Amino acid sequence: MSKLPLKHIKEHPSAPLPADFCSNPDVAWTLPASYYTSPEVFKREVDTIFTKDWICVAHRSELAQANQYVTRDLIDENILIVRGKDNVLRAFYNVCPHRGHRLLEGSGNAKNVITCPYHAWAFKLDGAMAHAPNCENVEAFDKEKNGLSPIKVEEYAGFVFINLNPEATCVEDQLPGLQARLRKACPEVDNLKLAARFTTPTPANWKNIVDNYLECYHCGPAHPSFSSSMRMDCYRHTLHGNWTLQYSDAQSSDRAFKVDASVQDPNFSGFWAWPCTAFNVPPGGDFMTVIYEYPISAGVTLQNYDIYFLNETLTEDQQRLVEWYRTVFRPEDLRLVESVQQGLTSRGYRGQGRIMTDKARSGISEHGIAHFHQLVANRSQA
Ligand code: FES
Ligand SMILES: [Fe+2]
Repeated sequence: MSKLPLKHIKEHPSAPLPADFCSNPDVAWTLPASYYTSPEVFKREVDTIFTKDWICVAHRSELAQANQYVTRDLIDENILIVRGKDNVLRAFYNVCPHRGHRLLEGSGNAKNVITCPYHAWAFKLDGAMAHAPNCENVEAFDKEKNGLSPIKVEEYAGFVFINLNPEATCVEDQLPGLQARLRKACPEVDNLKLAARFTTPTPANWKNIVDNYLECYHCGPAHPSFSSSMRMDCYRHTLHGNWTLQYSDAQSSDRAFKVDASVQDPNFSGFWAWPCTAFNVPPGGDFMTVIYEYPISAGVTLQNYDIYFLNETLTEDQQRLVEWYRTVFRPEDLRLVESVQQGLTSRGYRGQGRIMTDKARSGISEHGIAHFHQLVANRSQA
């Protein structure tokens, strides 16, 4: 059994977890509550996950044209991703090498040089220094040594991933097979365009939000309208190492997804990708929603919930669907994880909760959580 003695949790809130922590999902318990609240645990995760692994930050449509850029907060960094005039996508720490001012805010179209607002140092979109005022009069000033600090960036499965680890290999090494399966679920993924984004600084640990995504045990009680579109008797969650797939046959519902009668075998695919991104392909397969998590601290996670369609001008049904996500489905999940984050610090919470798997791995079985917690346990030993 992976239940840890209460005394152990109290005395060692950030201690590494046993190697077999959730190795048998059928007798597993959740990560200790302290793993969702401890700054020490978060610091270790920054060192072993968020500065080591690929993190998905955008759909390619936001960076399709030369000079387009986006910025993203992640841990204690702000990251700048920009497509150069040469059409090469690059990422940099969004920090000026002079005295550290931020270079660009938000997103949009960069000029051909990025000019720091503080003392007007200017950089080309490939990160090289273009000019620094008065540099010709500064002794031994070396333009070459004053370019932007690069970060690894890769386009994968229609999305843009970054990695703060200069030694990182490629996204496929981290998520083998995900691209092929995701493209099968949404063949048009490259052609999607951002239609809506809900940004929420969420008072919840990033793993609490992942947990919530990795089970549909809560779908019946907490998402009645979503559930009306799913065929819960065929809902299945399959595990593929660093990613998982929740898949279900679907049905048209006036309360959630209205599926056109021309769609054969409508279904839902929900991909979770280590560490903290979820890609949903709702019934019809011609649009997507994506949950991007940007962990900021142990107790706060910035989230972008993006909705992508193929068409730019939305139909009435699509507008209604966006409103349903904004006012119904999305708030349902946000309130759940916020409540859990508070409950984890209650004197009455016993430090771990039972993971509710069943042998059939039915639609409401929580084996996805056991799988995720084993991955977290493995990393806790790094
Ligand atoms: S901090 Fe950017 S030019 Fe001085
Ligand atoms: Fe949910």
